[in-house]
This record gives sequence, structure tokens and C-alpha cells, in this order.
Amino acid sequence: MPDDSTATAPAASEAASDAAGTVLERADALAAHSEEPGRLTRRFATPALARAGDLVLGWMRDAGMTAGRDAIGNVAGRWAPPGLPAGAPTLLLGSHLDTVRDAGRYDGALGVLVALAVVEGVRRRSGGPPFAIEVLGFADEEGVRYGTAYLGSSVVAGTFDRSALDRRDADGIAMADAIAASGGDQAAFDAARRDPADLLGYVEVHIEQGPVLEAEDLPVGVVTGIAGQTRCEVVFAGVAGHAGTVPMALRRDALAGAAEWIGAVEARGRAVDGLVATVGEATVAPGASNVIPGRVALSLDVRHLDDAVREAAVAELRARAEEIVAARGLGAAFTEVQATPAVACSPGLTRALEAAVDDTGVRVARLPSGAGHDAAVMARICDVAMLFVRCAGGVSHNPAEAVAAADVAVAIDVVRRLVDTLARAR
Ligand code: GLV
Ligand code: MN
Ligand code: MN
Repeated sequence: MPDDSTATAPAASEAASDAAGTVLERADALAAHSEEPGRLTRRFATPALARAGDLVLGWMRDAGMTAGRDAIGNVAGRWAPPGLPAGAPTLLLGSHLDTVRDAGRYDGALGVLVALAVVEGVRRRSGGPPFAIEVLGFADEEGVRYGTAYLGSSVVAGTFDRSALDRRDADGIAMADAIAASGGDQAAFDAARRDPADLLGYVEVHIEQGPVLEAEDLPVGVVTGIAGQTRCEVVFAGVAGHAGTVPMALRRDALAGAAEWIGAVEARGRAVDGLVATVGEATVAPGASNVIPGRVALSLDVRHLDDAVREAAVAELRARAEEIVAARGLGAAFTEVQATPAVACSPGLTRALEAAVDDTGVRVARLPSGAGHDAAVMARICDVAMLFVRCAGGVSHNPAEAVAAADVAVAIDVVRRLVDTLARAR
């Protein structure tokens, strides 16, 4: 077992340090591909995502990988050592290439680029592993465009919910049409599913998105599990009217009701240990300063490591919305868009990852993930393990996201060592 008393030893190999420099340059190059001038926004099935994917495909081919897109637009590159027997398994490495609005450049992209760096290192050595390595860059993890996360990995895992194809984005474009317009093929989703029997596991490197590693002065940490999440759409319906003429007692103000409920969401999150509850989007209609709001559409995102706690919170918030609209003479529609259970990382693969961290001389820290990751979906078809990389101030979903090259080098070293360990074990 790894020794928890080992001092932090951040010096990675020279090869990994060079590779880390390339990873950071590539992250900058990817960040240039955005839907919006002056800030990074790269949602599912957009031309910006396609351009970023093209860059990654080019780097994959330069690294000797066979590369292409699958039916939903995930990019995938495959490298097999010369002479690998048919039927040998595949180790999957990767993360996502989509972003939130006004994003940082490392959430998702770092895991794809570190995976690529690992393959570039492994293929230079003689005597490759007795398995193939595939690098995946998922087309949607954030769920920003359609309010439903993990579209990319759910096709790979065979868990894609086809009812989502009818969902519309803010411009009224149906998901099915966006997929077709970006070159995808929903009829081929089933064929894009990976066969669990072929897979050795899925390993994802990701920025921590929290402050723990920085506080512990550690470059990397091993993830124990990923919190479950529920995403909902909640609509408050009132009656639009004249802001100057309708007396306060006679109003049915949808925004006033929504505001009361948002306060309840925050209070519930604060009251339960480990629970987080967020209203991140609000659309007010008709939306004029002299009109009483007639309709408010909100998003709700609730997370906890214990599924029962999360589900109880969602039920309580639904009941609270019903109480508020009853008291105010409003209507409400509460729709659960997506619920993803909490996932524990796989013990065997995670132990191997811990040993690889220990091998680099870095003290092994274990921490849970409050953020969602593609590994939560990939766990449906194979073993999963995740490595977090320290990020400055724990900041993410923010253009201020930053990582240190030295920490990225440690992550590359760790995953290369993990590949070696897995190779020896076969
Ligand atoms: C993705 O970053 C999420 O956790 O929502
Ligand atoms: Mn992410
Ligand atoms: Mn994210």
C-alpha cells in the first residue's frame, strides 16, 4: 500500500516535464476555439467544438494513432503496440472537450491532453504494453446546451436516453437536428457503444476544481468517488401585468415566487452536510422593467455523495415549490431532466493508480469529487479511476482556471507508471 507519510516530491521526469509544456501549449491552442469572441464557450455540437476536435484529431494522428469521430461527435484515437494480438483489451484514457460558458481552459481539455501525452511517451519506448490505448475527447460532459450532461460518454457506455433528442436549446434547435448538422448520426449510437469485454478500464485526469490539494501542498490526488447529481427545470407561472397599475395584493408575480423558492434552495443546501443545491439559470418573461413577471424558468442542480440524501432534497424542494405557488396563486411545473447516481471509483484500478502516485514520490491523498465527470458514466461498462491535478485557488468554471506545468508533469508521470503497472499485471 502507498505510504501516507511520504513527503511531497514534485519533481517529475524530464520527459514528463517536456510533455507538460506541450500539454499547456495545446490547452492554449484549444482555448482559441470558442463560440464567443473574447471568452471561451464551447458547447456540444457547435462549430467551435468541431474545430477543437479537429486539432485533437491532428495531434492524435501525429502521435501514430488511428483517429476519428464517433456517431455523437466524440473524438477517439487508438494506438496499439506493433504485433499486439487480436482480441487484446483496450485501456481508455480521456475526458471532455466541451466547456461551460466563459470557461477556463483546463476543465476537460487537460484530461484529453494528458492522455495524449501518455500515449506519446509510451509509444516511444520499446516493448509496448499487452493492450491498446485509446484516448477519448467527449463531445458533451457539461450539459450546457441541452441541460442534460454526459451526452458523449453515454453513447460510449450505451446509456444514452433517446428522449433527450427532442430537447431544444435556447435558440429552439432540437438536439437531434444539432447532432445531424454537426455530422453525427443518431441511428449509429447503438453501434458506437463499447463492448465491456474489450475494456481494461477508463482512467480520467481532471483538474480538482476545489481547494484540497492546494491546501495539502500536493500536485495530484486520487479520487475515491463522484457525487450523484440531479438536474431539473422548474417553471413558475403567474400573470404578466402593468407594474404601475396592479396593486401589490392583486399580483401573481412569477419572479417573486421564484425568488422565495431560490431562498429555500439555498437554505436546504446549507442545512445538510455535504449537500450542494444551485439555481444557475433564470429566464424571466416577458422581461421588462415595467411589467410584472408572468413566467420564470429556472434550472436546479442538486448533488451529494449519498443518493438518498440527494433524492430527499429534490423531493423536499419540489414540495416547497408547490407550497409557494399554492400560497401565491401561481402555477408550477417541476421536471426532473436527469439523475445520475453517485459512483465509487473501482477499488483495483484505484489501488494501481495510488501505487503509481506513490512511485513518483508524492504522498497519496484520496478525495471525493463534488463535480461530475465522464468516469461516472463509464463506470457502467468498465472499471474507472480518476486522478485530480491541483488547480490555482480551487477555481474552475471560470476563466481564471490555472494549473502549474510541474503538477501536469507529475500527472503524466503517474499515468505512464500506471500503464506500466497494468502491463506487468497482464
Ligand atoms: C461539470 O463540471 C459538472 O460537475 O457539472
Ligand atoms: Mn469537467
Ligand atoms: Mn466542468
